[in-house]
Amino acid sequence: MDKYKEEKLLVSKIENGTVIDHINSGRALVVLKILNIKGNEGYRIAIVMNVPSTTMGKKDIVKLEDYYPNSEDLEKISLISPNATINIIKDYEVVKKYKVEIPNRIKGTLKCNNPTCITRKSNEPIASSFTLLSKDKIKLQCDYCGSILTEEDVIKELIGESQ
Ligand code: CTP
Ligand code: ZN
Repeated sequence: MDKYKEEKLLVSKIENGTVIDHINSGRALVVLKILNIKGNEGYRIAIVMNVPSTTMGKKDIVKLEDYYPNSEDLEKISLISPNATINIIKDYEVVKKYKVEIPNRIKGTLKCNNPTCITRKSNEPIASSFTLLSKDKIKLQCDYCGSILTEEDVIKELIGESQ
């Protein structure tokens, strides 16, 4: 059997659920964290990391049986893996396939890294709002104070390691 076919057989197909494909290599665990999946929920999950991809060099894949991410989840995934493809599986067939999209404005999802930013004052309920400055290497700017969030800042926040 050729190497490519072996690779494809590494993880079996799923019956119903979601396959998140073309995740930036090494970031599958961040995707699970974003989805708040710990693994003890009981549904079948497959994580494939650092496998060859024709378009990306290497990629990660997450297969989730009976699980469907919502639009907020997909927005977060787009920030750490702009090429991610969402495949909705029904009766073993891909019934829907689309790419995540990074919005030009990200509202309410991320926290500003400036402690004195108005969006961080607890008595003023103002939702955070960021404008996308760069897609290639993610760079966001706070619409209120001008602070910059880099890709590293975004990852830290999404995995819950920012203060
Ligand atoms: N997949 C799966 N279970 C299924 C159907 C598909 O786990 N019942 C997975 C495939 O293994 C693949 C992804 O979902 O990782 C997308 O499937 P498909 O569209 O058939 O593959 P490709 O054509 O290679 O996808 P693309 O063109 O998006 O790279
Ligand atoms: Zn701010």
